[in-house]
Amino acid sequence: MIKELVVLNRSYRKFHNHKKVLVEQLTQLVDLARNTPSAKNQQPLKYILVTNENDVSLIESHLKWAAFLKDWNGPDKSEQPPAYIIMLIDKNLNENAYIDAGIAAQTILLGAVEKQMGGCIIRSVNRNEVLKHFNLPSNLEIVQVIAIGYPNQKIELITPDESGSVQYYQDNSGVHYVPKRKLEDVIIIPDTTSEHSG
Ligand SMILES: Cc1cc2nc3c(=O)[nH]c(=O)nc-3n(C[C@H](O)[C@H](O)[C@H](O)COP(=O)(O)O)c2cc1C
Repeated sequence: MIKELVVLNRSYRKFHNHKKVLVEQLTQLVDLARNTPSAKNQQPLKYILVTNENDVSLIESHLKWAAFLKDWNGPDKSEQPPAYIIMLIDKNLNENAYIDAGIAAQTILLGAVEKQMGGCIIRSVNRNEVLKHFNLPSNLEIVQVIAIGYPNQKIELITPDESGSVQYYQDNSGVHYVPKRKLEDVIIIPDTTSEHSG
């Protein structure tokens, strides 16, 4: 069911590093993304599938994980993601494809969850270094990197407390809590009965 997949599809930041992800599996995920909506159907998104250990560690060294977890500097070696998908916009096709990119990223992650995997969208990337490493032409912009692997992390969705804070946090046993706003706080019911003043 879609609701189960959406709820299971959390931003996982700890993985079983020894459980490798195959290029073939990443290819299947990109094949899902390839079929998603695209403004004017320009389809400017391109992907680099990264499973090679050298490339994986290069990417890992240029990411920032979990801004709210101030005393956590990202996953330990044994919990790092074994694979990444680098999502790029080909600016020769469409300069402004960030909505396409969001749809594609969520589709990739839902596909991963369906395969008992999971991942995390990461926008805090040192783009220059990654572009340089892969020797990419200037028409390609890195939109985001998606970590992919087999999660080794318990994540729970919770309702924000009275303060209304939506900051995620971790308890001492490593359980990661993600506050999501209540339904009634996200649906706006406009008052169409009062008269308009102008
Ligand atoms: C556009 C976007 C950019 C993100 N960038 C990062 C990032 O740079 N580093 C990171 O650890 N998480 C990143 N995340 C993951 C968010 O922190 C995560 O979605 C949020 O904490 C809610 O958790 P959830 O995905 O489990 O609902 C990003 C998510 C989105 C949608």
